[in-house]
Amino acid sequence: MKKIPLLLLGCGGVGRQLLQHIVSCRSLHAQQGIKLRVIGVCDSKSLVAASDVSVSELDDRFLLEACRIKSAGSSLSTLRSFGECQIYGHSELPQRVIEIASLLGKATGLALVDCSATMDTIDLLTRAIDLGCCIVLANKKPLTSLMEHYDKLVSQPRHIRHESTVGAGLPVIASLNRILSSGDPIRCIIGSLSGTLGYVMSELEDGKPLSEIVKAAKSLGYTEPDPRDDLGGMDVARKALILARLLGSRIVMDSIKVESLYPEEMSPSKMSIDEFMSTGLPLLDKYINDRVQKASLHGNVLRYVCVLEGSRCEVGIQELPKNSALGRLKGSDNVLEIYSRCYSQQPLVIQGAGAGNDTTAAGVLADILDIQDLFN
Ligand SMILES: NC(=O)c1ccc[n+]([C@@H]2O[C@H](COP(=O)([O-])OP(=O)(O)OC[C@H]3O[C@@H](n4cnc5c(N)ncnc54)[C@H](OP(=O)(O)O)[C@@H]3O)[C@@H](O)[C@H]2O)c1
Ligand SMILES: *[C@@H]1O[C@H](CO)[C@@H](O)[C@H](O)[C@H]1NC(C)=O
Repeated sequence: MKKIPLLLLGCGGVGRQLLQHIVSCRSLHAQQGIKLRVIGVCDSKSLVAASDVSVSELDDRFLLEACRIKSAGSSLSTLRSFGECQIYGHSELPQRVIEIASLLGKATGLALVDCSATMDTIDLLTRAIDLGCCIVLANKKPLTSLMEHYDKLVSQPRHIRHESTVGAGLPVIASLNRILSSGDPIRCIIGSLSGTLGYVMSELEDGKPLSEIVKAAKSLGYTEPDPRDDLGGMDVARKALILARLLGSRIVMDSIKVESLYPEEMSPSKMSIDEFMSTGLPLLDKYINDRVQKASLHGNVLRYVCVLEGSRCEVGIQELPKNSALGRLKGSDNVLEIYSRCYSQQPLVIQGAGAGNDTTAAGVLADILDIQDLFN
């Protein structure tokens, strides 16, 4: 049986779902001759590791208990009484992870799996790369920081996978890598990469006011607790930056033109969420509706997309033909149109759910299995 050791950073919605997928795929992986060994799990406060990471792992009963404890809002350190393990507090965490990476990196290709939502893992990840580890990311932040960090993280392309950073489980990065490595030049990518904004923009076509659509989306749980986190476009910009860098652009976040759907005066530092929802948003209804109507005169619809073309990288509202893949988008799917030499008249289209713990964690798991061919 081929053993793949991994250490999970982040045990929130995605991290827990990943542990559950790992446990429920045991017999499938066994048929493929593979065993995933989870040797450690950490959250923002502690690391729980197997008692001897070289030979032992956290067993399934333990992993499921870790999920249960985290869902209940308790600390990982309460697992001390549940089974044999080592527990380290926040201050010892980075040093201990590096020790484990030195021990297992070159020898086994230990995968550090980043399902956190913080910049703070960058240092660990870059050092892990030097120690021969593989890294798998759902977290976009390490890839959207300084160019110098990005260069380090991708310095060994076979040691990194980050499919779930763009379009969750959709095969976006893998498809682009295949096109790039076959020498087919990518001319343009247009993508609706926010489920929330996809939903909002398609609902606008029926003439509904923006304010009501956003209210409905919020109560359906489609938005972040503060919908401005979606409407501002920064999450789409992070994904755009990851795609731009994949295509070879050496740019940083600040060089991306991002159109926010709300003005500066309505930003979180100046208005509470309630105030924004009740008095801010309705002020935007007319402007957006006028734009929708103007677009429809030309047979177009509005979509909130990222556009990558040559050195251009922009995020915001674009008028697109009603009868294109993006124009037909309804609901919260992500849609990407990729134009290259091979896909020149009709684009390659990738569409499907672009968020959710389940699909995101499935994407991470597939990434972990994808790098294991490097090691015995
Ligand atoms: N959910 C989706 O649909 C989706 C889709 C695509 C990508 N993603 C990305 O996937 C990542 C995880 O999302 P999520 O929804 O699971 O987030 P989440 O629920 O906020 O979980 C984040 C986890 O990271 C932990 N953490 C924070 N700082 C840490 C550190 N320095 N070291 C190790 N762990 C740390 C947190 O610890 P505590 O528990 O102690 O707070 C928490 O367990 C995010 O980067 C997100 O952008 C999510
Ligand atoms: C993802 O997991 C978190 C934490 O368990 C939960 O609050 C959230 O509703 C889940 N999201 C989805 C779309 O299932």
